[in-house]
Amino acid sequence: KIGISVYDQYDTFVSEMMKDFNDYATKKEEETGVAINIDTYNASASQSTQNSQVENMITEGCDVICVNLVDRTDPTAIIDLAEKNNIPVIFFNRELVEEDLERWTRLYYVGAQAFESGIMQGELAAEAFLTDQSLDKNGDGIFQYVVLEGEAGHQDAIVRTEYSVSTMIDSGVEGEKLGYAIANWNRAQAQTKMAQLMSQFGDSIELVIANNDDMALGAIDALKASGLTKDEWPAVIGIDGTVGLEAVKNKEMIGTVYNDKEGQADAMLNLAYELSTGSDLSDLNLIDGKYIRLPYARVTCDDVDSYMEGDTE
Ligand code: BGC
Repeated sequence: KIGISVYDQYDTFVSEMMKDFNDYATKKEEETGVAINIDTYNASASQSTQNSQVENMITEGCDVICVNLVDRTDPTAIIDLAEKNNIPVIFFNRELVEEDLERWTRLYYVGAQAFESGIMQGELAAEAFLTDQSLDKNGDGIFQYVVLEGEAGHQDAIVRTEYSVSTMIDSGVEGEKLGYAIANWNRAQAQTKMAQLMSQFGDSIELVIANNDDMALGAIDALKASGLTKDEWPAVIGIDGTVGLEAVKNKEMIGTVYNDKEGQADAMLNLAYELSTGSDLSDLNLIDGKYIRLPYARVTCDDVDSYMEGDTE
């Protein structure tokens, strides 16, 4: 019996990962003949709600608990409850600090390495700028950009931006930051913020670096609403390979970075299974006995088809 609590069930990446998790669980049941029971809770962005949900999962007899923390700096109540009842916890996607993960032996983390996605995004942006002169609208040889950032304090927001920009520069492209806005991973917020950035910087924006695909699409919504023709748009780049794939395919985005939700869901299911059945974890290649991190991958219109729905497994 697996209990799961997600920080927000309407988050695109997390909900797609949950769908994959359930599919892998069905496959695992078929393979092993072991019934897998999954109870999923939505914490609706409240850490105290999530803490009560974990308490509930323990009362309900869950063998293992998977937590997508609301506040990644506040896992204490959950860790204490788990340890007191000796139920292992797999944290995922929203990474707690190492000191917290070290607080008890039966705590694990499944996710990715944020800086890697930033590096790939920076490489893609640089390659686009160096190969397509039309992206340098004012012809000054400098890529003028704005950034749409995810939640403040999320490991993937700050780190992605930092590495994306530094990699672009290391790849030989001079960048100039015009502005940025926090849009909390959210498409509608990104549209509003992008419209504001456009009214401030007009057509001097040549690149929109978005920390995820939802926000990249929000930027595109704003571009469409602005009445600019497509060849007047800045280049737009995202991360996740979720809702952005379609836009990469039809060249509204110059690329995205695939955040391996299938791999993460599969790894989390296998880990949960081994923890529940008391088997040994040696086949799972845990880093430091606690971490599973799946690699990111670069996606452009050349290879986007292999990432589109149904082709990724
Ligand atoms: C994803 C975002 C998502 C966030 C939620 C990130 O890794 O890239 O799309 O909103 O996780 O925690």
